[in-house]
Order: sequence, then structure tokens, then C-alpha cells
Amino acid sequence: MDTPKINKSKLPRHIAIIMDGNGRWAKKRLMPRTMGHRAGMTTLKTTVKTCAELGIEYLTVFAFSTENWKRPADEVDYLMKLLVEYLGKELRELHQENIKINVIGAYHDLPSECLVQVEEALSLTRNNTGMVFNIALNYGSRREIIRAVQNIASKVQNGLLSPGDIDEKTIANELYSCNIPDPDLLIRTAGEMRISNFLLWQIAYTELWFSSKLWPEFTKDELLRAISDYGQRERRFGGLT
Ligand code: FPP
Repeated sequence: MDTPKINKSKLPRHIAIIMDGNGRWAKKRLMPRTMGHRAGMTTLKTTVKTCAELGIEYLTVFAFSTENWKRPADEVDYLMKLLVEYLGKELRELHQENIKINVIGAYHDLPSECLVQVEEALSLTRNNTGMVFNIALNYGSRREIIRAVQNIASKVQNGLLSPGDIDEKTIANELYSCNIPDPDLLIRTAGEMRISNFLLWQIAYTELWFSSKLWPEFTKDELLRAISDYGQRERRFGGLT
């Protein structure tokens, strides 16, 4: 298949990705699931590089959900180790490429080893002006919305806000993603057609793109296909053309 053509004037500003299928990729090869996650880390590196080169402004990836704690302890441990390894190995290069790392989710609840690495990544890249690489860690959209509602309720209780003044902006400002525009394109791999508690508020008008490829097999060309297809979509945001 030819490399898809990208119309640079129709690039999504913000791409969000649900990186699904690591476990199935490993199972097909009679390998432990953890090896699927390791292969997925390689795909993630290529994806970050491609998006930055294309001039995508924001890339959000779902790395660990609030529900992923239900997995066997050794798999959870491995994912945490992989996060530390990934940031440890890639941070200097990401920084050199002027990429700014951001995290959404209750990441303070991660094991201390991860937290140290995450804090270092955040502080080193804080002033970078290139692509924002936004990692969802211990993230769940419903939990994010509950937290926003609690913060807003406190403001109302303390007389700082009146209920009638609550609008979309009030809610968006209380989400982890408050400094980031809504995704234009959401990609999910591995043939699953669901959202799995990811960015429920933020994807109200996002274009969805599903790939049958398992995440470790999600190539640069497949990413370009998603971006190229996005360029053909007509976005109306509920209005008419
Ligand atoms: C879903 O595949 C993937 C995850 C829960 C983890 C995503 C992690 C990576 C891509 C690894 C590298 C990234 C970092 C930052 C650590 P699955 O395990 O649900 O696959 P399955 O549905 O086939 O079982």
C-alpha cells in the first residue's frame, strides 16, 4: 500500500490514542503479555516522533487507566517499570526535540519510583514550546468529571460561584486537560469500537478512527492513513456547511 498523502493544511491539532491490543499481539506469538507492552512502547516512540515531525500540536496517549489496577499485579508492576524505563531512556531526546510532557490523571497515586520520573519529565520540559505530549496515567474520565464537580461544588459552597454561572468553560477548566484543546482525532487500535472511559467530556465533537491493527503493529503509515482520512472529513460541530 502507498504511503498516504497528508494535506498539511488539514492536520488535526490534537490527536488522542487508545493504544489497544498489546496483550493479543503477545498471545499470537505465544509470549507473555508483558512482551506485548514492551513492543507497544516501541510503537509509542515512533508515534511520538512522527507526530512531532508532522507538526501535530498535542498528542494524548492512554498509558494506564484507573481500571488497569484490576490486572494481575505482575502486569501492573511491569507497566510501571516500563513507564520509568521509557521516560528514563527517552526524556533527553524528547527535551532536545522541544517536546513538552504533560500528564493527566491521578498520577500522584502511582508508585514513588514512577512519580519521581514523571515529576522530572514535567519539570525538565516545562518551558518547551514544541508538541505537547500528554500521557494519561491512572486516568479515568468519570473520575476526572467527579473531581471537577467536587471542585465546582466547593466554589459554590464558598460563595465564589453561583450555580447559574456554571457553563462549559467552568467544567472544562476543572478537568485535568484544562490547558489543552479538545482532541480533533481519536484513534483506537485493535478493532475495538469503544471509548473505555477516555476523555468523555473532551471528545464531544472529535472525529473517531478505528484501526484493526494491534497497537504493536500500528505503523507510521497506519498513523498517516488516520491523519489523511481526518483531512477528508467534514466537521460541522452540529451546524451546517
Ligand atoms: C492496552 O493493551 C494497553 C495498555 C493497557 C497499556 C499501554 C501501554 C503501552 C503502549 C506501553 C508503553 C507505554 C508506557 C508509557 C508505559 P491490552 O493489554 O489491553 O491489550 P489486549 O486488549 O490485547 O489484552
